[in-house]
Amino acid sequence: MEVDGQAPSLPWIEKYRPQTLDDVVSHQDIVATIRRLRDAEKLPHLLLFGPAGTGKTSVIKALAHEMYGDQSAACLLELNASDDRGIDVVRDQIKTFAGSRGIFQSVSTADKHQYKLVILDEADNMTSTAQMALRRIIEQYSNTTRFCLVCNFANRLIPAIRSRCTKFRFRPLDTPAVVSMINRVVSEESLTMGPGAVAALASLSRGDMRHALNVLQAASMQASEVTIDTIYAVTGNLPPDVAASLEVTLFNQDYGSGVRAVNGLLERGYALRDICADLGERVMGLKCPPIAKAHVLKEHSLYMY
Ligand SMILES: Nc1ncnc2c1ncn2[C@@H]1O[C@H](COP(=O)(O)OP(=O)(O)OP(=O)(O)O)[C@@H](O)[C@H]1O
Ligand SMILES: [Mg+2]
Repeated sequence: MEVDGQAPSLPWIEKYRPQTLDDVVSHQDIVATIRRLRDAEKLPHLLLFGPAGTGKTSVIKALAHEMYGDQSAACLLELNASDDRGIDVVRDQIKTFAGSRGIFQSVSTADKHQYKLVILDEADNMTSTAQMALRRIIEQYSNTTRFCLVCNFANRLIPAIRSRCTKFRFRPLDTPAVVSMINRVVSEESLTMGPGAVAALASLSRGDMRHALNVLQAASMQASEVTIDTIYAVTGNLPPDVAASLEVTLFNQDYGSGVRAVNGLLERGYALRDICADLGERVMGLKCPPIAKAHVLKEHSLYMY
C-alpha cells in the first residue's frame, strides 16, 4: 500500500485505498478468480455487487492499476452511472474511448492486454431504458472492451445486463478483516487507541470499511487518544450503557416511560434509525428462541415512530 508522499489532508479512505489486489483485505476468493481470469486473458464483463464500503470500486481500480500501470488513462474509462448525463453521453464517451486504438498497444504493461476496461460505477442507478441501451453498447464494443459494472443491488439491473456479466457478490467485511485494517491505519498514523476502541469501531462499522476509516479519522481529530466514547460520539450510535438502560426501560416499565425514554434520546440528538439498529442488534443477541425475539422486536417497534 502506497501511503508515502501523499497530501496529509487526503481522506484516509483514499489514502488507504488498495493500490493492488494484494492490498485488498478479505474477498480472497473473488480476488483470486479475477486475477486468474485476467492472467489467462479471459476477463469477462464483470458485475461486482454488495453493500457499501466493502471494496468493490477498490478491487476494480486495483485490477486496472495492475493491468495498465501508468497507462491507465488510455486503457481505462471510469463512468459513474449516477451522473445526471443520460445514456447518450455515456455512449459517446464509450465510443470515443473504445474507438481510440493504438495508444495502449505500444507500451509495456498495458501492451499485454488485448482490451480496455470501462468501469460503470453505481450502475443500479440507471433507468431501465438506459440499461437497455447499455446492453447494446456492451455488445457493440465487446471485441475491444470489457465492462465492469459496480453496484449495491444487482436485482436493480435488467436480466439482459446481468446475464452478460460474471457476477461477484461482496459480503460485509468480517470483524477480523476490519480490525486488521484499522490496526494498519492506527500504526501508520501513530494513533493512540483507548481500551476496547478498536473492537468498538470494528463492531460499529458492521463490515463497512469506508465507515470504519471515516469514523477513525474524525475521532482522531477530536482528541489525542481515540476512546470508545469519542467513537460513539462521532457515529451517533447509542453508547452501550445508554442502550442497556433503554432496553431495561422498554422491557420493564410502562408504555409512557418507554416513549419518554425514546423521546429523550431523540432530543439528545440520536437518530431514530440508529436507536432502532442498536436496539435491534441487542434483541437479536438475546439468548431466546427466534419467535420470542420476533415478539420483542414487534413490541419495541411500538415505541419507534
Ligand atoms: N476489502 C477492502 N480492503 C481494503 N480496504 C477497503 C476494502 N473495502 C473498503 N476499503 C476501504 O474503504 C474505502 C471505500 O471502499 P470502496 O470504494 O471500494 O467501497 P465500495 O464497495 O465501492 O462501496 P460503495 O458501494 O459505497 O461504492 C476504500 O478506499 C478503502 O480505503
Ligand atoms: Mg463503489
